[in-house]
Amino acid sequence: MKFEIAPNVHWVGKIDWELRKFHGEEYSTHRGSSYNAYLVRDDKTALIDTVWRPFAEEFVANLAGEIDLHKIDYIIAHHAEMDHSGALPELMRHIPDKPIYCTANGVKSLKGHYHADWNFQVVKTGDKLSLGGKDLVFVEAMMLHWPDSMMTYLTGDAILFSNDAFGQHIASENMFNDLVVQSELFEEATKYYANILTPFSPLVTKKINEVVALNLPVNAICPSHGVIWRDNPMQIAQKYLQWAADYQENQITVIYDTMWDGTRMLAENIAKGIRQQDERVTVKLCNIARSDINDVVTEVFKSKAILLGSPTINKGILNAVSALLEMITGLRFKNKKAAAFGCYGWSGESVNILGDHLSRAGFEVVQEGLKALWQPNGDALAQAVAFGRDFAGKV
Ligand code: FEO
Repeated sequence: MKFEIAPNVHWVGKIDWELRKFHGEEYSTHRGSSYNAYLVRDDKTALIDTVWRPFAEEFVANLAGEIDLHKIDYIIAHHAEMDHSGALPELMRHIPDKPIYCTANGVKSLKGHYHADWNFQVVKTGDKLSLGGKDLVFVEAMMLHWPDSMMTYLTGDAILFSNDAFGQHIASENMFNDLVVQSELFEEATKYYANILTPFSPLVTKKINEVVALNLPVNAICPSHGVIWRDNPMQIAQKYLQWAADYQENQITVIYDTMWDGTRMLAENIAKGIRQQDERVTVKLCNIARSDINDVVTEVFKSKAILLGSPTINKGILNAVSALLEMITGLRFKNKKAAAFGCYGWSGESVNILGDHLSRAGFEVVQEGLKALWQPNGDALAQAVAFGRDFAGKV
């Protein structure tokens, strides 16, 4: 299967409807994904990226149906992560001498993955590769999201091949942004940014402004996952600028795990207090042990503040809450407020642990945590409501 982006530019990747976990088990892909590769024909022909290793043979066979592999003049490897480079060994088995254009870091990571000494051609920002009438112009994009990442701009057709940036994990037979359900598209694009790009937000802003300053026309943005942005393509770049600016909506998310429902009851009464204080704020509750962690991270991304709860167990906290804390620490969210809560029976360390960890993760802890001894009722639940009211008043 192929999709036409311009008469001489075609998508030749793989749509993976079955994918449910990505990066090992790190990222949930409820809607599948795609590994986008592109064939650009002019006097010379360039292949931009490949697909994940399990689809290597299928990819190369399909590609050979599209073009005599020996007529591919250049291979562009934007990024060595295996979802894009995984079919290179199979491809290079057929055309071992063809040049692979990548960044200096790309050589290191491709060699590190495949231990092959292919014909690497190192490129830097601004370097051009002539295809005849049109040029490929390379743009390094270090840490968006790997040290080796880069993008390529095709002159004439004005297409930006952006690699992971601007992607979404969506499988679709309608490969263009104007042909898919918009709410699903932006839900997945937001989740992708929240879970992958948040730590690199300052670099996102810098790189987009750098590209915008060049004042180049952009008819399409072709990412390496999900659908191609051809209808108002710069809308996703504008979204990225918003998301990179310490994004938040008027939302408070209450996240907890619970053993015997005590911490859940606190969570629900805290939410009641928030609503009493501010009926306009969006309040969401997530039992982290029963929720998809990447979806919860997306809710954290959208929130101006979070409340995090765990009962005390073995002088610590429940492990689903630990996993979330680990993840949000790495993502380095900024400009978000927080507080902690939890039940206890004996020693009651959980609330202090949560508060300390939230501070270390960069959240501003705006009030002392709420602890409830044994199963909360009466006064304890009233305190939880008041705690929620106070919190909503401060954020
Ligand atoms: Fe889609 Fe960083 O790989």
